[in-house]
Amino acid sequence: MTQRVLTGITTTGTPHLGNYVGAIRPAVAASRESENLSFYFLADYHALIKCRDPQMIQQSTREIAATWLAAGLDPDRVIFYRQSDVPEIPELCWLLTCLAAKGLMNRAHAYKAAVAANQEAGEDPDFGITMGLYSYPILMAADILMFKANQVPVGRDQIQHVEMARDIAARFNHHYGEHFVLPEAQVDDNVAVLQGLDGRKMSKSYNNTIPLFLPEKQLKKHINKIKTNLLEPGEPKDPDDSTVFQLWQAFASPAQTEEMRSEFAAGIAWGEAKKRLFELINEELAEAREKYNELMERPQEIEAILQAGAEKARQHSRPFIGELREAMGIRGMDRVASR
Ligand code: TRP
Repeated sequence: MTQRVLTGITTTGTPHLGNYVGAIRPAVAASRESENLSFYFLADYHALIKCRDPQMIQQSTREIAATWLAAGLDPDRVIFYRQSDVPEIPELCWLLTCLAAKGLMNRAHAYKAAVAANQEAGEDPDFGITMGLYSYPILMAADILMFKANQVPVGRDQIQHVEMARDIAARFNHHYGEHFVLPEAQVDDNVAVLQGLDGRKMSKSYNNTIPLFLPEKQLKKHINKIKTNLLEPGEPKDPDDSTVFQLWQAFASPAQTEEMRSEFAAGIAWGEAKKRLFELINEELAEAREKYNELMERPQEIEAILQAGAEKARQHSRPFIGELREAMGIRGMDRVASR
């Protein structure tokens, strides 16, 4: 049986090198190799939970769609769509909401973190917490269960959400019969977690990122801003304590990595190491960046790809939501009840 693999990308922010190395590059590679049926989608309804700026929602969705396409995701090989183009997903979300235990949602990490932050600040525990944030895992369960995904590649922080989807699916199956496939989270421990300019994990929340498709000059500037120590040219440097080296490793072949390791031992100047790092990264990204810029100038093209993707997705979701409605008793008056 072909496996179904599904993953969602929340459309907030501008993709950076950390997203590329940690998520985009491995996912695109997997989609090109595998015999799986793969679903990749832009989770714009999830984005609404974090962002109330309509312009930013639209812009970010456009940038992220263009990024994945430019990075090599082939919409003919996978089903690539935007969550909000598949109305069966929010419909399923409601059906699941009626089964999901409130107590389960109380245990979600993201929600608990928000409550803890409020308590620390001496606020009401519910302060600023929307039902969107609270129910976030149910929408995610709908995303996953709608397409009968077996495997859900995610970062560590999302494992709990996939387990919740499994829990909700099992509950549904128990009550209404076997309709859902129980999904499993797939966490790849081999992908690198990149450090940002300041040496902490590269993350939008630390404001230390290097955006993925910066123009060449800007990319160079950002790389020059990576924090280093004060060792002079000629003094041996510790590669394992260096963000420059860590980034190098994420883009280099094993042989190039060994070479750079020797260069560090031999005391390569920081300026020189950064210059080579720029060249290495730029070489890997140049072609995709050009494609990205082209796509960003032709949003109709992105839109057409997403519409075609939505049509493919809905070939699955339309009949399935019908089956689920029927199972739950949302049926026409003229229907003979099967149970
Ligand atoms: N919550 C995921 C994240 O923030 C994005 C996402 C939404 C997702 N729906 C999904 C991931 C379904 C996997 C499957 O990274």
